Amino acid sequence: MTPQLPTNPGPIGIFDSGYGGLTILRQIRGMMPQYDYIYLGDNARAPYGTRSFEVVYEFTRQAVLRLFEMGCRLVILGCNTASAKALRSIQQNDLPHWDPTRRVLGIIHPTVEAMGDITHTGHVGLVATPGTIRSGSYEIEAEKHYGGRVKVVSEACPMWVSLVENHEYDSPGADYFVEKRIGNLLRHDPEIDTIILGCTHFPLLLNKILKYTPREVKIVPQGEYVASSLRNYLERHAEMENMLTKGSTCQFYTTEQPENFNSSATIFLGTTVEAERVYLE
Ligand code: DGL
Repeated sequence: MTPQLPTNPGPIGIFDSGYGGLTILRQIRGMMPQYDYIYLGDNARAPYGTRSFEVVYEFTRQAVLRLFEMGCRLVILGCNTASAKALRSIQQNDLPHWDPTRRVLGIIHPTVEAMGDITHTGHVGLVATPGTIRSGSYEIEAEKHYGGRVKVVSEACPMWVSLVENHEYDSPGADYFVEKRIGNLLRHDPEIDTIILGCTHFPLLLNKILKYTPREVKIVPQGEYVASSLRNYLERHAEMENMLTKGSTCQFYTTEQPENFNSSATIFLGTTVEAERVYLE
């Protein structure tokens, strides 16, 4: 069924399974504060990283449609798992029916584009959810972009999103899981000089990650690259830019209790957040 979507200009939507996309929102708003934004976190159903392709696609599809119904013209999947497992299907199967003038963009492509300039050895480590790693999306994009010049060595980190969603990212318990995964990755390929945080939750574990990574290895969160890629996209697509409202507002929605979301999001963003509850189906 074709949904009835608002036709007037609207905000930029940013979606994530939970809190992780806030690290993307923060960078995007820092670079382009003039636009209106709506953030939607599916906290009630996070984490996505251990779920099947079909489930991640269905959950992401519901969230993107809801953001379009709220008036968004453009939605950024601020989640690697959703970018890896749902982006292409939404672009190919859903957007043409919903409204071909709207756009959904992912965050893997801009990250891969950036990493070639950061690594000197050509050996890039990737830490991400099991879903992102299993999809092979980073390797596929890197091969397309660099041929064999940049090698991606990956390590799935199944517990890390849960540590963040459950506010354990600074606790002593987090050390065990972070040390284990960083250690595995660097043992696997000692030539790695760059580690991509291929999950938007992971910047919240940065203190722990730095603690277990040799100083000469660069840790690269994606937010900055996603933000500059979006700015570049909007410079090249006036038809989309003209459809974005510019009131510098940001609304927050979560599928969980707003109280939980508010207290965590306020810490993550450093500003007071008041979210509303949304039900997805
Ligand atoms: N922030 C999501 C990502 O970038 C985490 C996915 C999850 O919920 O496991 O992959």
